[in-house]
Amino acid sequence: MTSTILMTGGGRGLGRVAAERLLATQPDRHLLLLARDGDRLVRELRERTGRANVSAITCDLASFADIRAAAEEIGRRLDEGEIPPLRDFLGNAGLQMATTTSTTADGFETTFGVNVLANYLLLRLLFDRFEAPGRIVVVGSGVHFGTLRHNLGLVPAPKWAPVGKLAEPGTRTAATAGRRAYATSKLAVIYLVHALARRLPDGVDVYTYDPGLVPGTGLVRDAGPVSRRAAGIILPLFRLTPLAMGPEAAGRLLADTMTGPRPGRSGAYLDRGQEVPSSPDSHDEAREEELWQVAARLCALPELSV
Ligand SMILES: NC(=O)c1ccc[n+]([C@@H]2O[C@H](COP(=O)([O-])OP(=O)(O)OC[C@H]3O[C@@H](n4cnc5c(N)ncnc54)[C@H](OP(=O)(O)O)[C@@H]3O)[C@@H](O)[C@H]2O)c1
Repeated sequence: MTSTILMTGGGRGLGRVAAERLLATQPDRHLLLLARDGDRLVRELRERTGRANVSAITCDLASFADIRAAAEEIGRRLDEGEIPPLRDFLGNAGLQMATTTSTTADGFETTFGVNVLANYLLLRLLFDRFEAPGRIVVVGSGVHFGTLRHNLGLVPAPKWAPVGKLAEPGTRTAATAGRRAYATSKLAVIYLVHALARRLPDGVDVYTYDPGLVPGTGLVRDAGPVSRRAAGIILPLFRLTPLAMGPEAAGRLLADTMTGPRPGRSGAYLDRGQEVPSSPDSHDEAREEELWQVAARLCALPELSV
């Protein structure tokens, strides 16, 4: 085994396809998954692909304690040579909630907690462990643009606010609050990627990956029954257009971008694997650095080593 690919969100949706594709195409790399039901996932992946180069650590990304324990366990496995050097990270896990009232184990709004703080904490804890040549890919979304072309009127535009405020759970159950928080979290993912690109050593690149619209995954499962039924009818129609692709094609493309030729300069936004400009609002060094600093405090990282 030459290196380890660490991945979140490999259990279902487009990430499940990507995990299977990585195993099929990268027999000389070890795939290490962080998942809520890690043992079951490893069993299923081994059965389905016939590959043994996969293991998991059970981890709920809505818990800082789980993330810290997972990072410690990854460090131990690396130190003891149980897994080969860590070069790549695919941060695919993400969720969209109906409201902003639910919280992570640490009391933060769930969407911001899982989509943003979990990636931040994990990457901060493993920062010194990545070896060049390496590639870090965090899955974002076109809804960060806030334009009809990208959100198809289904998700409101992001609304930035001081980071401490974004991390707070909401008190109202406004119908669009959860989806707006989702769009805002994906804008934050780009800020995080830009801040990381300024800090990572040469040879370890970082990207935001936009899979386009992918109907048929579990992303809207928290929505009420009416919204879910509407999404089940409307979203598949978009697969007849170039705006959308199914989980199979989207997952394969994600895996191939992870392992293919360098897709662009570090920090770039990849729309289905191609470097394109992200929204004008997504280039804002002051917000990026505020996110980097405040997230450290929210994650109780003792001091800013990077
Ligand atoms: N579908 C789209 O149209 C679309 C468009 C743009 C971007 N994206 C992004 O693509 C990524 C994959 O989404 P998807 O559409 O494939 O959705 P999905 O089917 O719901 O898959 C989401 C994955 O994230 C994992 N996850 C969520 N919360 C977690 C937690 N607390 N701890 C550990 N793992 C957690 C899930 O694990 P469990 O199996 O344990 O729930 C699952 O493996 C997300 O980042 C999403 O925002 C999707």
